[in-house]
Amino acid sequence: MSQGLDDIIAAETRLSSVDGAHGILVVKGFSLDQIAGQKSFEDVAWLLFGGLFDDLPDARTFAAQLGHARSEVFDLVRYIDDGILALPPMDGVRAIMARIADGEDLATATRLLAAPAGLLPAFLRLRDGQPPLAPDPRRGHAADMLHMLNGQVAGPETVGALDTYLVTVADHGLNASTFAARVVASTWSGLTSSVLAGLAALKGPLHGGAPGPIIAMLDGIATPDNAEAWIEAALARGDRLMGFGHRIYKVRDPRADALKAAVRRMAKGSNLLPGRLKLAEAVEQAALEILHRHKPDRPLDVNVEFYTALLLEALGFPPDAFTAVFATGRTAGWLAHAREQRLTGRLIRPQSSYVGPEPAVAA
Ligand code: CMC
Repeated sequence: MSQGLDDIIAAETRLSSVDGAHGILVVKGFSLDQIAGQKSFEDVAWLLFGGLFDDLPDARTFAAQLGHARSEVFDLVRYIDDGILALPPMDGVRAIMARIADGEDLATATRLLAAPAGLLPAFLRLRDGQPPLAPDPRRGHAADMLHMLNGQVAGPETVGALDTYLVTVADHGLNASTFAARVVASTWSGLTSSVLAGLAALKGPLHGGAPGPIIAMLDGIATPDNAEAWIEAALARGDRLMGFGHRIYKVRDPRADALKAAVRRMAKGSNLLPGRLKLAEAVEQAALEILHRHKPDRPLDVNVEFYTALLLEALGFPPDAFTAVFATGRTAGWLAHAREQRLTGRLIRPQSSYVGPEPAVAA
């Protein structure tokens, strides 16, 4: 038995590879630095979908179809009622996405890919008492999402930062949510069901739920000289430091540096708080030293979520919406993996080892 399925290979994939020993992420034959900040989210989603749908058009047409799909899913905004608005954004978006009919075709996949970008900004604006803003299919995915959020045409630095983020998290091997999506796909349930499973698994703080609490940690620490004492107290309470550690990476998560660079590039013209990056660097430094001291046998380094928190805060997303922005990117990976599983895999059905009581034997 392998608790947590460490080192178990449960799928063969052409989508992405994570080399945890060397900190290398490859997506469809491109290293992370060849796509993050280099290709648009639409193009990376198109790459991931390649070979998985017979009717996938060229990249430009696909990007246009994604734009139209944003407008189509925006129609679902009418279902965002007070009950939905009382939920955390991730749960609210998931509840509305559950209205998308299940299917296996490209139109369903494109609708699901468009949905978080089309729905999350509307959810956040309605929660703030503001009218939702309709998508504009002519804009790029990241630019349109920011416009729907803030009601202003976003500058190239901020659009570039969100695009870099969405690309950076688009796919990442057989992480927990992608595995959940593949398990559901293996039962031939449909793409909507697979994406809903992915959303449910991503939400937890050990996976995609980490970046919101990182803002609380930075606010709690407040100044660099407070970092060490705050972190020591957190570990003494038995807390985990959000944004550190990874099941696969034994070295620094390459996505952390891609995002840190994106934060630096957009610093001007964003909502990045003065001194935020310096504080984060001091916290990172202190955390690495203290984690090393506490767990000398465990290579605990910074992961993708740490600088995600800074980037999404600077873009104007509230911390409780960070996981839903993560889902906006990762939906591309879930959909591709679900299709790949459907086309090349079989029912995923492992076994468990029974350790309960045996039935009484009649005397
Ligand atoms: N802070 C403090 N201790 C930690 C941390 C951390 N961030 N990460 C691991 N440990 C300790 C853990 O307490 C355990 O100690 P012990 O052996 O004494 O019980 C040991 O290290 C091993 O932990 P594990 O849970 O068996 O290791 P894992 O491979 O399952 O953990 C992890 C991976 C990401 C769940 C974990 O590192 C963690 O909880 N990190 C904090 C949450 C976080 O940042 N999540 C985002 C992950 S990256 C985004 C994604 O791709 O999902």
